[in-house]
Amino acid sequence: MKISASILATSITRFSTMLPTLKKEEIDYLHIDVMDGNFVPQISFGESITKEIRGQSDIPLDVHLMVENPEQEVPKYYDLQPDFITFHAEATDFMVRLCEDIRVHGSKAGIALNPATSLESVRYILPYIDLLLVMTVDPGFYGQKFTLSGMQKIQDAKKMIDASGYDIALEVDGGVNVNNIAQVSQSGASICVAGSAVFKNGVPGENTIQLKKLTETA
Ligand code: DX5
Ligand code: ZN
Repeated sequence: MKISASILATSITRFSTMLPTLKKEEIDYLHIDVMDGNFVPQISFGESITKEIRGQSDIPLDVHLMVENPEQEVPKYYDLQPDFITFHAEATDFMVRLCEDIRVHGSKAGIALNPATSLESVRYILPYIDLLLVMTVDPGFYGQKFTLSGMQKIQDAKKMIDASGYDIALEVDGGVNVNNIAQVSQSGASICVAGSAVFKNGVPGENTIQLKKLTETA
């Protein structure tokens, strides 16, 4: 299990002093939640803050774009060479083209699905995807509760990916914590996003190690 730490769950001022202490041996990815105030109600940060983070840390970036018009926004991140650039299926009709473009520019292409969006919306484009992000809360805020149907959707997504034969990471985002991460892992997730569970209390590196341990003993 890999952990992608969502920096949305900490304040940007706290985060800037904390960033030099975060180690890639502990935190697998920094999950950058870009929010445009249109696709989701609030605005968070964009490519300039992401660039500063890139300059100050060697932890791989996992950019999650909760934005309208992803065709316009995605290219702004190419220079930063994130490991993953993920956009939402609900925000575009042209997912194939955008995934191909992300790959050409050297990142892995991710597609995110809101809890209410069916897995069918990506079934026929799996050859173009490197990561499927199953949202287990409605996007827009950290600290929400894991949806009741979340485990079922993760299991169904895992089955769909395995049956396709493609090498696609299954990422789960929203409400993942010490109480449910073992089950999320057993259901088939390979990367868990954790915001509150990493940043709200204690030391981020230690919290991450604890989360990972819970999936190993499960
Ligand atoms: C929600 C974001 C998540 C969120 C996760 O819109 O995409 O990444 O920050 O935070 P927690 O783990 O607190 O649900
Ligand atoms: Zn996210």
